[in-house]
Amino acid sequence: MAFPQTRMRRLRASAGLRGLVRETDVRAGQFVLPLFVTEAEGGAGGREAIATMPGVERLSLAAVVAEAQEVAALGIAAVMLFGLPAEKDEHGSGAWDPEGVVQLAIQAIKRAVPELLVITDVCLCEYTDHGHCGVLREDATVDNDATLELLARTAVSHARAGADLVAPSDMMDGRVRAIREELDGEGFSDTPILAYSAKFASAFYGPFREAADSAPAFGDRRGYQLDPANGREAVREALLDVQEGADMVMVKPALAYGDLIREVKRATRLPVAAYNVSGEYAMVKAAAAAGYLDERATVLEILTSLRRAGADTIITYHAKDAARWLR
Ligand code: PBG
Repeated sequence: MAFPQTRMRRLRASAGLRGLVRETDVRAGQFVLPLFVTEAEGGAGGREAIATMPGVERLSLAAVVAEAQEVAALGIAAVMLFGLPAEKDEHGSGAWDPEGVVQLAIQAIKRAVPELLVITDVCLCEYTDHGHCGVLREDATVDNDATLELLARTAVSHARAGADLVAPSDMMDGRVRAIREELDGEGFSDTPILAYSAKFASAFYGPFREAADSAPAFGDRRGYQLDPANGREAVREALLDVQEGADMVMVKPALAYGDLIREVKRATRLPVAAYNVSGEYAMVKAAAAAGYLDERATVLEILTSLRRAGADTIITYHAKDAARWLR
């Protein structure tokens, strides 16, 4: 039966009817808030504004604990930590330093707010002086196999400090397996891996690289991150990560990649996280500040669309605002 017997507008007529048939829900318990922890003093109150990401700050160790308390009180599931070390070197040794900024932050947060999940980004780009995600060869390309051991060491150091999940974002081949083996060998067989499986070489990471001081000193990341044109390849990456032992997979960025959130979910059957990245956040903030968009309505629509596409978990810089709006 079609029109006039069928009228799609009948179930849209009131808030009650719309609520009754709403297909997708968004709640704070699905959110992960990324935090930038710095070894530097971090400005007034241990907080330093990030020009490219209005409302996001670099936090000192003391400030990160206060932030974690606020985040937990809002019902947000987890924080994801990125470190800004005082010093960088060729191999990124700050990444696995037991006294490193992320390791100290994990311990401090877990001590103060044990119920808040702490996820760590496992990568070398914030710790290498050249800004690439792995060790460089003579010809300045990233040496995949030599990087694996360093990533595994980094993941174990995070688990030892108390991280609840580790999330490798480097895009080296075989890193999930290398990390799983090292975690299991060191007594962390219960620590899950959230793999940044489908991570694209994206212009949307621009504001983050400013925030985390992790832009490559030369070249770009197209030699290891996915080509934005390739969907089948992204699904293949995710399936390989499943084989290597990933517990959750991620699609990143999120907004221009909804097709892949859906396809990766269908192909892997694993929980899928969508990373609503820095550039996506910055666009909304800039447009809202200019009066071009209603920030609240736009953000909630974006988050709902990621859930509708199939994301179980959303990593977003909007998490605190959205959690308040959803109360
Ligand atoms: C580290 C890493 C990046 C992001 C998350 N982990 C930057 C990059 O790959 O250049 C981007 C996050 C964002 O833009 O919000 N490799």
